[in-house]
Amino acid sequence: MDPSCAARYRIKSFAPTPEKPFVLGLPTGSSPEGIYKNLVKAHKNGEVSFKDVITFNMDEYVGIPREHPESYHSFMYKHFFSHVDVDPANINILNGNAEDLEEECIAYEEKIQRAGGIELFLGGIGPDGHIAFNEPGSSLKSRTRVKTLAYDTILANSRFFDNDINKVPKMALTVGIQTVLDAREVVIIITGAHKSLALQKCIEGGVNHMWTLSSLQLHPHAMIVVDEDATLEL
Ligand code: GLP
Repeated sequence: MDPSCAARYRIKSFAPTPEKPFVLGLPTGSSPEGIYKNLVKAHKNGEVSFKDVITFNMDEYVGIPREHPESYHSFMYKHFFSHVDVDPANINILNGNAEDLEEECIAYEEKIQRAGGIELFLGGIGPDGHIAFNEPGSSLKSRTRVKTLAYDTILANSRFFDNDINKVPKMALTVGIQTVLDAREVVIIITGAHKSLALQKCIEGGVNHMWTLSSLQLHPHAMIVVDEDATLEL
């Protein structure tokens, strides 16, 4: 199953209007690139409109300009927003350069609440099982906040920064585990053997804050979509 189908199906059956928009939570990373490709294709074929969709991105680096090619802001415009009919006023991405980062996070949570909560949260995970930037050790009750990145994440993401860990931001703003769990539905995509241990820990192990994806076991409508390589440890 391609998670873009879940998004298309849910948006269409919801039949959003300006008065009753569909609220969609969105990820970045290489795993969701295919999802965005398919959503853009479906949009071009007239199969889905994002006109009355409000989006909330999961996370953003702290301290690199919005225009930096590796900011999540740039990623989202490059892969998705520039190709669909979403209203720019309905796009929400955390500002990693806000003067008061804590205030930025509180305001983001409030905005999600005001929008009526997230209907569908799409996501990926890091090799250490993190959702968004909820690194191992994150509270399962966490909400949007500033997070210091784990060394493993900095290392994994250095591939986007000339393989130089010194160029990778060390902090990020991220929605919390509870923010994800509050969504009416969650669909996570996991691909590759390097994430197979995380998949095993998160679905065959107990719920715990060291493998934050395991929190999805508590969600009544969560789905994990995997490729064969990711199932290596199951
Ligand atoms: C970053 C993002 C996560 C994403 C992860 C995996 O750490 N903050 O939200 O799930 O990367 O990325 P990839 O799909 O490139 O492996």
